[in-house]
Amino acid sequence: MSFRLQPPAPARPNRCQLFGPGSRPELFAKMAASAADVINLDLEDSVAPADKDQARARIIQAIGEVDWGHKTLSVRINGLDTPFWYRDVVDLLEQADDRLDQIMIPKVGSAADVYAVDALVTAVERAKGRKPISFEVIIETAAGITHVDEIAASSPRLQAMSLGAADFAASMGMQTTGIGGTQETYYMLHGGAKHWSDPWHWAQTAIVAACRTHGVLPVDGPFGDFGDDDGFRAQARRSATLGMVGKWAIHPRQIALANEVFTPSDAAVAEAREILAAMEAAKAAGQGAAIYKGRLVDIASMRQAEVIVRQAEIIGKSTETR
Ligand code: COA
Ligand code: MG
Repeated sequence: MSFRLQPPAPARPNRCQLFGPGSRPELFAKMAASAADVINLDLEDSVAPADKDQARARIIQAIGEVDWGHKTLSVRINGLDTPFWYRDVVDLLEQADDRLDQIMIPKVGSAADVYAVDALVTAVERAKGRKPISFEVIIETAAGITHVDEIAASSPRLQAMSLGAADFAASMGMQTTGIGGTQETYYMLHGGAKHWSDPWHWAQTAIVAACRTHGVLPVDGPFGDFGDDDGFRAQARRSATLGMVGKWAIHPRQIALANEVFTPSDAAVAEAREILAAMEAAKAAGQGAAIYKGRLVDIASMRQAEVIVRQAEIIGKSTETR
């Protein structure tokens, strides 16, 4: 128990983050017209080293020229272990339109990584008098997951944190080339039958706990097999059940799937409202618990129901303004 209240995460929809390589500018207008809540223009691993300068220039141009609507607009910069990242930050902040909302820092391994980027961003913002941008980070290394709590607390700019399954698996030495989802070799045997378990579960819950402690949005990263809709849905449903608010799309067909899973259904919202009403009636009668559809509901149930109603309201408000 703590006397400190848990800070709320930013009240903005983050059901789907759509990625596109900065080296494919023909995709930018399509990304802007999509139903994704967040757009991630990529300068990192989907752009070859020889194309970094041109991709950066194209992204800077597109930030000002494309109509991004009410979406959160984010650019993924290169990692701090590369020679590219400082130029990404300086050029974006000196040259891009104020429409840029956020930068995504990949492969963050400690709070000091975020501090370094924050110091550079703050200096350029002051020099240029530009609107402050926010940060999002990817946890995708052994160091990142080990220091996940200090990273979640690292900067008031930090709004979201994603799990990057592929780099995470590589850094951890996991014997898989799958990007998210069920792994053939991760099972238990019971009575001779295989029961598949979830190798991402531990990292996801660690991220959710760190994010919820510090008021940051926890997000599930990519699902590589974009032909497998059912596999994407199953992974996304597990993430939503664990407390994550959204998932990346690495192909446009994954956008509707993410929006479907991370938008509370009408039935779930109706049930949550009924639980709140049942508890209001119980409180009015001087009681802290009630029976709803044959099961116990109490004050903790109200908090659970409020999570669903609040999520629906955040999403509802944003779609009204689109
Ligand atoms: N955003 C918006 N539109 C996209 C898109 C994206 N990321 N990827 C493809 N499209 C469009 C295509 O232009 C095509 O449009 P059209 O119907 O008007 O011709 C349509 O969606 C179907 O595309 P498809 O031919 O199936 O895909 P592709 O071969 O052009 O590209 C990928 C497939 C996976 C290479 C591409 O989706 C991609 O680069 N994804 C993002 C990768 C990335 O950013 N990775 C880093 C984060 S992990
Ligand atoms: Mg990565």
